[in-house]
Amino acid sequence: MLKAVILIGGPLKGTRFRPLSLDIPKPLFPVAGLPMIQHHIEACVNVPNLKEILILGYYPTSELTQFVADMVQEYKVNIRYLQEFTALGTAGGLYHFRDQIRSGNPEAFFVLNGDVCADFPLVEMLRFHQEKKASLVTIMATEATRQQSVHYGCIVQDRDTSEVTHYVEKPSTFVSTLINCGVYICSIEIFQTFAAVFNTRQQEYYNDASGNGNRKEAAVIYLEIDVLMPLAGTGRVFALQTSNWWSQLKTAGSAIYANRHYLELYHSRHMDRLAQEDFVGEKEKEKEKEKRCNIIGDVYIHPTATVHTTATLGPNVSIEAGAVIGPGVRIRESIVLSGATILDHSLVLHSIVGRGSHVGQWTRVEGTPCDPNPNKPFAKMDNPPLFNSDGRLNPSITILGCSVKVPSEVILLNSIVLPYKELTRSFKNEIIL
Ligand code: GDD
Ligand code: GTP
Repeated sequence: MLKAVILIGGPLKGTRFRPLSLDIPKPLFPVAGLPMIQHHIEACVNVPNLKEILILGYYPTSELTQFVADMVQEYKVNIRYLQEFTALGTAGGLYHFRDQIRSGNPEAFFVLNGDVCADFPLVEMLRFHQEKKASLVTIMATEATRQQSVHYGCIVQDRDTSEVTHYVEKPSTFVSTLINCGVYICSIEIFQTFAAVFNTRQQEYYNDASGNGNRKEAAVIYLEIDVLMPLAGTGRVFALQTSNWWSQLKTAGSAIYANRHYLELYHSRHMDRLAQEDFVGEKEKEKEKEKRCNIIGDVYIHPTATVHTTATLGPNVSIEAGAVIGPGVRIRESIVLSGATILDHSLVLHSIVGRGSHVGQWTRVEGTPCDPNPNKPFAKMDNPPLFNSDGRLNPSITILGCSVKVPSEVILLNSIVLPYKELTRSFKNEIIL
């Protein structure tokens, strides 16, 4: 039997995802029509014999209750949210809830960072892990560019055995272009390693004569620094390198990128989720066709959204529940969140329109994509800071927080608008507070 743990952090995390994470916990932000971590859950339920999914974080339980109930109903698998009393680090929560994870005697469990998106190769990882008899942890790994690799956990691997011989978390100088994807499968014996780290920490705390030690901090364990780094080179950690699509989901810009890739994955797994282009010439479809808007490429439209027949959507657009898209509207490479309204003939490009926001007529809302450099093999998304070195806003996608009002006939370019703001004119490269 197998289990899976999804690490979602808490309200203090995901700051680069603001203002979108102000009204909804970041792990529940919808990408390609599903809350971010529902994609993780779908990958897990497709693993044979996986019996339980535990979501670990320090968000208040109330923020996850409805989501967990929905997931249990949809996938008919045990799913629970376990709340850490404080941020315990990427392995502190695993250790704290060890009895919950070990109950029922799973042979292994997956650990998935909630803030990554991927075509998760979980079944392949399981097979690989089972072959490596000595393995305590198998890490999903991928190739990055030399410059970008240092922002990730870096892996040095024995090419013949796939053993991780050296691991450095976010090194300050180049170590390796093979990086940690934040997706693991662990054997149950890993808890002995966690316990050893925990006990050492506690000893240090009690031996600290100064009395300045912090009891809470003594419970914090980082999987990368406290477990993987010391275990590397001992023959107990392996890495499975994949070329599957993978990215971090740290910034709002990366949500647009993730949206595109998850929509693409629907081609092979969930064609039903993609809005279909019209089948011209089929008489029986004629009537239905009249009701449809124009679709280009991959588009997700929630069944409760209203899209006018003369609107054109796509490629790579998600329209969430209850959104209303007016006549002649054009939307590309964007996410329109629930209850948003976009009035006649407006244009939305490379943008996220927040919940309940309102865009007037003949308005242009446009952002700059921040995709990985297509000319560099293995390039990942850069997660640039909001401001560049001269204090100017870095060009980014345009984001409207929730319940923002954009008037008719204005241009909003590369801007971030905080919730509940009512704009009265055009803006370019600004954060509107
Ligand atoms: N439950 C819980 N408790 N989850 C946590 C905590 C915590 O205290 N701290 C972080 N997390 C979750 C985050 O929500 C995120 O999903 C994941 O653990 C990783 O968190 P970060 O601390 O933000 O690490 P990172 O994303 O910068 O780096 C990690 O992921 C990279 C791949 O995306 C590392 O594992 C890197 O080595 C790796 O390359
Ligand atoms: P102490 O100096 O004893 O604390 O240990 P250390 O520096 O050997 O260990 P640490 O846990 O910091 O890192 C383990 C190993 O990772 C180091 O021996 C280095 O080989 C490597 N390493 C750590 N940080 C970096 C870095 O920024 N760049 C590079 N190239 N290697 C690093």
